[in-house]
Amino acid sequence: MGKIILTGDRPTGKLHLGHYVGSLRRRVELQNSGAFDRVFIMIADAQALTDNADNPEKIRQNIIEVALDYLACGLDPEKITIFIQSQIPELCELAFYYMNLVTVSRLQRNPTVKTEIQMRGFSTSIPVGFFTYPVSQASDITAFRATTVPAGEDQEPMIEQTREIVRRFNAIYGDTLVEPEILLPDNAACLRLPGTDGKAKMSKSLGNCIYLSDTADDVRNRVMGMYTDPGHIRVQDPGKVEGNTVFTYLDAFCRPEHFARYLPDYASLDELKVHYQRGGLGDVKVKKFLNAILQEVLEPIRTRRREFEQDIPAIYRMLKAGSETARTVAAATLADVRRAMRIDYFDDAELIEEQSKKFKGR
Ligand code: TRP
Repeated sequence: MGKIILTGDRPTGKLHLGHYVGSLRRRVELQNSGAFDRVFIMIADAQALTDNADNPEKIRQNIIEVALDYLACGLDPEKITIFIQSQIPELCELAFYYMNLVTVSRLQRNPTVKTEIQMRGFSTSIPVGFFTYPVSQASDITAFRATTVPAGEDQEPMIEQTREIVRRFNAIYGDTLVEPEILLPDNAACLRLPGTDGKAKMSKSLGNCIYLSDTADDVRNRVMGMYTDPGHIRVQDPGKVEGNTVFTYLDAFCRPEHFARYLPDYASLDELKVHYQRGGLGDVKVKKFLNAILQEVLEPIRTRRREFEQDIPAIYRMLKAGSETARTVAAATLADVRRAMRIDYFDDAELIEEQSKKFKGR
């Protein structure tokens, strides 16, 4: 069996820099590396509906935004399959069987679900669909026999849940499903990029995001307003780099060649940090440097997005073709699952024979 990638995003908004360093950038590299036999990228609209049931229009509007962000970043439908989750009904059937292999208390222990329940203020009125989305996510992953799931740290509990389901399924019904591995960003700053206000995570509702589709002005304004070290008041004051958002972003984006291009007085990020910590280096200078780097990263993405925006019908056609391909693959896995569970009654000549014998001569 080859190496297969499946990953995806909920279409609840445009994608931002957190998505980019957490997974998107890596996906494009993996797509182009040739190391994977197949790559599936899923727009997880059905999962997005688990906590947006009253606002399907939001999801409907954002599917195209996510697709545009994918293409703008360099995901290439000639090389990989991009599809929409809800168009693959086989995923629901898999989830229905997997639900029997998971206990309520196990789902209650999922740390990501716990945090999300708190963030959404669900307290005790948790939609059942939302509560069980880790099971549905196991279907997404196993339907494509994914070996590898490139994703952010917050997805780790989902992959662990999937692995448990796979092991339990295979133990009960025989070796059928593939156990996946998560592929996390290798750089600590990319594991969880903070919001521009220094809060733990970029989130639309906190208004602390830099979107891949933001204009150059938007990006500059966000960077210039970024949270730094509140104790670093005058230029000559010593500053902290830990918990300083500008430096966290530099950790995520800065490469040695950026110094030659934009800040030739310094040879490396370490040197810049040392100067900041010693005092005598102003926030504005560091922010301008970060802005130059981010513009360099985002400019080509922005330009390509504009181009793709000119032919929206073509993008829906691409998503439809991708969904058809994905459906064929998921259907083959579902057939294996049904066979393993021995609920493929009508294809089971042995069963029909055995039952005939049992009833003959009664
Ligand atoms: N949970 C992911 C998110 O919050 C989206 C997702 C759904 C996903 N199914 C997946 C990610 C399968 C990786 C693999 O964005």
